[in-house]
Amino acid sequence: MKGIILAGGKGTRLYPLTKVTNKHLLPVGTEPMIFNPIRKMVEAGVTQVLIVTSTEHMGDIVNQLGSGKQFGCEFTYRVQEDARGIAHALLLGETFAAGERLLVILGDNIMTGTLVPHVEAFRQQPCGARVLLKKVGDPERFGVAAIDETQVVQIEEKPQKPKSDYAVIGYYMYDHKVFDIIRGISPSERGELEITSVNNRYIELGEFEYGILEGDWTDAGTFESWQYANQMMLGLK
Ligand code: DAU
Repeated sequence: MKGIILAGGKGTRLYPLTKVTNKHLLPVGTEPMIFNPIRKMVEAGVTQVLIVTSTEHMGDIVNQLGSGKQFGCEFTYRVQEDARGIAHALLLGETFAAGERLLVILGDNIMTGTLVPHVEAFRQQPCGARVLLKKVGDPERFGVAAIDETQVVQIEEKPQKPKSDYAVIGYYMYDHKVFDIIRGISPSERGELEITSVNNRYIELGEFEYGILEGDWTDAGTFESWQYANQMMLGLK
């Protein structure tokens, strides 16, 4: 299995902190934000890792992360020239993936628990996709899972009236089909290729599993959530 960490986007919700640096290099606890996804990926045994980021911040990202030696992994880098969505960024990883399964992590997702059992469950899964869910107080900010008994039947991106409290968070596992699926989806109303569209396609195919993430989790893409992430990682909450 290979890994992809998505660290592109514009970071507009954290402006002006993101005027001259990349969101994923801002501090969370005692380290840059992106260290948490990297450490969780390596802990789960995924050590060939592609980092996708924007043109203007690639230099800073490479200066900070280097070869991967300090994390026990090996980095490859790719530039996403325009922030056209999470699935658009993921598509840049096709050559890197070379047909292998993928663990994809959003670079602004911070957690205290472990991905190990979930990656293990995906290794046992014959094919398809596997995502992680987390109960949240503000589901309208996320992709939200509609769950029927034990199955996810649909995911809605930032719904005004969420069908559950379960957010589909930024840790996704996919088989090789993901790139064909991305090529088959259309941009959303906000003009992005949405990861939620990709996940809904796997649901239609009947090849979609999920796990519930234990421990604390947050995204860090808004001032409020970034502050929460800092408190979480400093053990203050
Ligand atoms: O945090 C989990 C949520 O992340 C999910 O529940 C949503 O379904 C998913 O759409 C996403 O929502 P956000 O609106 O919070 O995503 P955001 O635009 O902040 O992007 C998340 C990360 O993805 C960000 O840290 C950088 C990366 N990204 C994003 C875009 C739009 C890219 O690498 N390229 C991009 O073009």
